[in-house]
Amino acid sequence: MATSPLLLLLLLLLPPEVPAATRWPSLEALPEGAAPCQVGELCLQASPQKPDVPLVNVSLYYEALCPGCREFLIRELFPTWLMVWEILNVTLVPYGNAQERNVSGKWEFTCQHGERECMLNKVEACLLDQLKQKMAFLTIVCLEEMNDMEQNLKPCLQIYAPKVSPDSIMECARGNRGMQLLHFNAQLTDALRPPHKYVPWVVVNGEHMEDEEHLLHLVCRLYQGQKPDVCQLTADLSKEVHLK
Ligand SMILES: *[C@@H]1O[C@H](CO)[C@@H](O)[C@H](O)[C@H]1NC(C)=O
Ligand SMILES: *[C@@H]1O[C@H](CO)[C@@H](O)[C@H](O)[C@H]1NC(C)=O
Ligand SMILES: *[C@@H]1O[C@H](CO)[C@@H](O)[C@H](O)[C@H]1NC(C)=O
Repeated sequence: MATSPLLLLLLLLLPPEVPAATRWPSLEALPEGAAPCQVGELCLQASPQKPDVPLVNVSLYYEALCPGCREFLIRELFPTWLMVWEILNVTLVPYGNAQERNVSGKWEFTCQHGERECMLNKVEACLLDQLKQKMAFLTIVCLEEMNDMEQNLKPCLQIYAPKVSPDSIMECARGNRGMQLLHFNAQLTDALRPPHKYVPWVVVNGEHMEDEEHLLHLVCRLYQGQKPDVCQLTADLSKEVHLK
C-alpha cells in the first residue's frame, strides 16, 4: 500500500523517538480535555476555541470487516482526528450493508462478511454505548488495526478504558442490548438521504463525501472558528508535494 500523505504529515508532527503505542496509554485516568501537555506527548488540552463555533461533524457508516472501511478509518479518519480532534465530532455507525429482519419480535441480522461481522458490529456498537466518545473511537481504531479483533478486545480496552471489562462488552454484544444497538444503527443507516450505495459511507456536516481522501483539508476548510495550526501546515505542504 502507498504511504498515506496524512500519515507522513503526522510523522512530521510527532517527535520520532517515542513509539506510537506508548503515547496514549493513560488518557482514561484524566478528566476529558484536561491532559497536561509535555513535549513528545499527544496533548488533549481543553480547546481554546469558543464553544459557540460548531464542530465539524464526520459520520462514518461502515461495517467491521470491510477492508475499505478499515483503510479509511485507520489511514484517513484516525490521522485526521489525531491532528484536529478539537474541531471534530466523529460519529461511528457500525452496520453498513447489513440487513435486518424481525423474527417473531427479535431482530436478526445478516452481514456482508458473515456472522462474525455481525458480532463485531455489535461489539463496536457496545463500545460506543459504554465508553466515552473519544475512548470508544480509539478502542475501535485499535481493534480495526488487528487481524484478530476478538483476541484484541482485551488489550485494546486495557489501553484506553482499563476499567471496562471485555466480558461486559461481550455480554452486551451477545445479548438484547447489542441487538437493540445494532437495530438503532440500522435505522440510522436506512435514514440516510441520499441512501448509502457502498461502504465506507462518509457524511461530513450532513453531506455525503464523495472522495474519501483529503478529509483533513475538508475539515479544515469547513471549520468556521480559528483553525488549528496544522490546517495551515497541511495547506502549505499540499502545494509543495501535490497531494494526489
Ligand atoms: C454538528 O452537529 C451538531 C448537532 O447536530 C450541530 O449542532 C452542529 O451545528 C453541527 N456542525 C456543523 C458545522 O454543521
Ligand atoms: C456530534 O454528532 C452527534 C450526531 O452525529 C450529535 O448528536 C451531537 O450533538 C454532536 N455533538 C456536537 C458537540 O456537535
Ligand atoms: C416484530 O414482529 C412481532 C411479531 O412477530 C410484532 O409483534 C412486532 O410489532 C414487530 N416489530 C416491528 C418493529 O415490526
